Amino acid sequence: MHGRRALRWFGATALVVSMLMVLTGCSTPASTGGGATTTGTAGGSTGPLKIALLLPETKTARYETQDRPLFEAKVKELAPDAQILYSNANQDSAQQQSQADAALTNGAQVLVLDPVDSAAAASIVTKAKAKNVPVISYDRLILNADVDYYVSFDNEQVGKLQGQALLDKITKDGNLGKTIVMINGAPTDNNAKLFKAGAHSVLDGKVKIGAEYDTPDWSPDKAQTEMDQAITKLGKTGFVAVYCANDGTAGGAIAAMKGAGIDPKTRPVTGQDAELAGIQRILLGEQYMTIYKAIKQEASTAAELAVGLGKGTGVPSSMTLSKVNNGKIDVPSVLLTPVPVTADTIKSTVVADGFWTTQQILNTPALVAAGKLVGLQ
Ligand code: BGC
Repeated sequence: MHGRRALRWFGATALVVSMLMVLTGCSTPASTGGGATTTGTAGGSTGPLKIALLLPETKTARYETQDRPLFEAKVKELAPDAQILYSNANQDSAQQQSQADAALTNGAQVLVLDPVDSAAAASIVTKAKAKNVPVISYDRLILNADVDYYVSFDNEQVGKLQGQALLDKITKDGNLGKTIVMINGAPTDNNAKLFKAGAHSVLDGKVKIGAEYDTPDWSPDKAQTEMDQAITKLGKTGFVAVYCANDGTAGGAIAAMKGAGIDPKTRPVTGQDAELAGIQRILLGEQYMTIYKAIKQEASTAAELAVGLGKGTGVPSSMTLSKVNNGKIDVPSVLLTPVPVTADTIKSTVVADGFWTTQQILNTPALVAAGKLVGLQ
């Protein structure tokens, strides 16, 4: 940890940034365009603080239902007049480039960027830096670029926790050494590489990997096609478990198994995100586990840093910063802790933390019955 050094560094940077803002950024009039939507007050001559939030996709539930509203709420709390220039790139890296261009043209003073493509996004950082606009790498690391901050989870640990939970279950089922299927995330996402590496570090040598796929864009429908192919390759009884990198891809793999007449209860499946649909499948026994990541904490931390950078007020003293190398620099980072969730821990994790209420989860008679078995009612 290099918290103290990072704090001193932040103070100096924030001062420079705020001075630069006085000189450059603050007279830009408010406007929208390029697919960006805006909320907040209109700009005056000194203008409200403008923060761009650029998220990568909509097929995974978290971005529109959690990250965006939670980030916006925290910014509003810290800087009620701030304007948020929001865009979602729908899994399209080129579209994200234009959305970032539009945000910069529209006077964004800070970019909070969750890149579709961790490598390609470096050019967005170059453009932002040319305008003295700081960039916070949100959830996914932007590689080989002068990123100011990185806010995420320990992503290799996510993969290790998934792999360990699956391995424990496989061992319990008496299936050690047997064949599994692996459905990883998008090859353009640095997180997907870390999840995959973490999972392999636990599973390799303990099971056979009969089929493995990287899923373009993390699309659940593509994961379903991959699982169809795995079933064709290995046969309906030719695998004992499925590693899926997130709940979206798990949903696709489970749909493929159902379509092939395989009862998903007989094949433990991993996931990530603690999506409502994932939690409900876990309760019903169709999915074995997920990873809960406290998105509220992640979004709030990014909002605090964005407002701190934009206003030059500094980083909260409670924030612990570590360093993550992105190929070019050591990026001051906040890495939060992921938590594994199985049926018996839904109550003590996602419900206890207020991520989902019991009422939201138990919305069918079958879920109410399954909930009772694990103390959820
Ligand atoms: C995120 C996951 C998400 C996945 C697909 C990853 O970078 O960390 O939470 O499920 O992208 O969008």
